[in-house]
This record gives sequence, C-alpha cells and structure tokens, in this order.
Amino acid sequence: ENQEKLDEFQNRIEAGEKIEPKDWMPDRYRQQLIRMMSQHAHSEIVGMLPEGNWIQRAPSLKRKLVLLAKVQDEAGHGLYLYSATETLGISRDELVDQYLYGSAKYSSIFNYPTMTYADICAIGWLVDGAAIVNQTMLARSSYGPYSRANIRICKEESFHKKQGYEMLAKMADGTPEQQEMAQDAVNRWWWPSLMMFGPHDSDSPNSAELIKWQVKLKTNDELRQHFVDRMVMEAEAIGVTLPDPNLEYNEETGHWDFGEIPWNEFWNVVKGNGIMNRERMKARRKAHEEGEWVREAAAEYARKKKLRQEK
Ligand code: ACO
Repeated sequence: ENQEKLDEFQNRIEAGEKIEPKDWMPDRYRQQLIRMMSQHAHSEIVGMLPEGNWIQRAPSLKRKLVLLAKVQDEAGHGLYLYSATETLGISRDELVDQYLYGSAKYSSIFNYPTMTYADICAIGWLVDGAAIVNQTMLARSSYGPYSRANIRICKEESFHKKQGYEMLAKMADGTPEQQEMAQDAVNRWWWPSLMMFGPHDSDSPNSAELIKWQVKLKTNDELRQHFVDRMVMEAEAIGVTLPDPNLEYNEETGHWDFGEIPWNEFWNVVKGNGIMNRERMKARRKAHEEGEWVREAAAEYARKKKLRQEK
C-alpha cells in the first residue's frame, strides 16, 4: 500500500476524523477491526447464557422483568455489532462460522458458572461495570460504525450496571445468609472481571497498532487501573470486600495498587479450558443449528414478499 495513502489515513485519524465504511483504509486496519468487533459481538451473544440461566429463578417478578430486559439488550448489542462488522466487507454467516466452528475468540468472562442469584448481582456490578469502562473509550474509536454502536451500548450497559449494584447493595444489607452470598459472588467474580481488560500491556501484541489507529484509546492496563480505582470506592460504599489482600492506596500515583492477576487461569480460559467453555460452545452451536429453520423461513418469506411487490 502506498505510503502517501497511509500517511493521509494517519493524518485523518490524528485530526480526530471518523473513518467510514466506504473510505480507504489499510487492509490491516480492516482485519484488526473485524477481529476485535466480531469478538465483541460473539461475547455479547454468549454473554446471554450465564444470566439466562437465572431468568426462570429470579426471586420476584420485578427482578425477572429486569433480567429479561437486560439479556435481551445483550442480544441487541450482538446484533448491531455484527451489522457494524459487516460494513467492513464480511458477512454475518462467515463471522458466525468463525465463532462456532473456527477459532474466533469471545470474552473469557463468560466461561464462568453462575452458581447463585447473587452472581447475577455481581455480574451486573463487576462485569457490566468493566464493560462500561472499556466501551466508553471504544465509543470514541476511529471507526465510525464501531464508535456509534458503542455509544448506544454504553447507555444500556449503564442501566445494567446500576441494576446489579442496587441488587448487590440490597443483598449486602440483608440477612447474614444474603450477605454471605453477596460476598461469595464478589470473591468469585472479582479476578475474572479484571481479566476482561486483556493481558498486561507487555503481553498485548495488538495494542500498539490499535492505539496508533485510535481504535483503542487507552491500553489494557490503563483501563484496568481505572476500573480498580472505581470499584474500591463502590465496594466500600455497600460494605463488600474485594478479595485482594494487596489492594493498597498509592499516595505517589494516586491509584490503588493491586495483587497479581492469575494469568495462568486467564490463558487457560482463553485457550478453551475454562470451567464452562465447552458447555457454552455446545449451547451456542445447538441454538444455531436448531434455529436453521427459522432463518430459512425468514429468507423464504422475504423472497415471497419481494415477488409480490414486483408483481
Ligand atoms: N478474553 C478472551 N480473549 C482475550 C481477552 C479476554 N478477556 N483479552 C484479550 N484476549 C485475546 C485477544 O483477542 C488477543 O487474541 P487474538 O490476537 O488471537 O485475537 C490476545 O488475547 C491478545 O490480547 P491483546 O493483544 O491485548 O488484544 P486486544 O488489543 O484486541 O485487546 C480487548 C483485547 C481489550 C478485549 C479488546 O479487544 C477490546 O476492547 N475488545 C472490545 C470489547 C469486548 O470484546 N468486550 C467483550 C466483553 S464485554 C461484554 O460483552 C459485556
């Protein structure tokens, strides 16, 4: 690709212009976006499973309605992220194929089991909380369709996080059993939520390129630190303890230092060996295969409708 075009592209990025689907872009930029945006879309879709597990068992009608709405929102996020990815010249069929039968990744966080209802509270607070920190930045990403998708996603994520935090606060202020459940859920979800931000910057092969192109505006470690600082305050406000004895305020940096993330566990989950990896993939494949007739029926209906209109 000629240097002049590359320079012009870089200048546009640095001037804060959005790159739109029909604009010229380096092939590598396109490939990186397809990788990252489709991974994000797959994550939203698989992310419905751990929470969907509790819709039938939500403790009240109100909680059931809220959870149902939240899980539906995740489906919506997945769908518009797939559409945004399609603007890069790849079809949804191909993307889904890479995900269900190929090697496309999705977020490690969705490979953990939801054992009690308190997990639903902790997920809202921690997992959606981490997603907001990550995606508020991505809402400023250089690729127009991705940036706009994230603006909308963040609005909904912020409701998800608030409902989780509110429920957790209630539990943490409840009976001793409820308090214990809330603390147990926080203990189990804390470290996996820190892993959502990806490997340390020194082990993140994609960061430099993505930051140069302003697809990512902050590094994995910068966003993780921002998240930790916020969560320390929020945990204290509702009386839950974060399970890290090394959490300590650092006067010099103005941030909270924290302990070593269990990276072996992270890579193990990324490689497909987490507690729920196999089951999640099995459930997604089954849903996709059993939904074949729905896709066929919809396509057939669209074909007939078009024929009628042409008459
Ligand atoms: N889970 C699974 N895989 C991960 C994770 C994770 N938490 N973090 C990093 N990886 C993978 C990367 O995909 C990459 O693999 P690949 O090159 O084979 O694709 C590898 O580990 C190395 O990581 P990085 O070089 O740091 O990758 P990148 O610069 O893309 O940063 C990150 C990873 C932070 C996840 C980024 O892609 C991102 O912000 N994505 C969009 C947000 C997203 O996907 N969120 C999903 C969960 S939030 C939700 O849906 C509620």
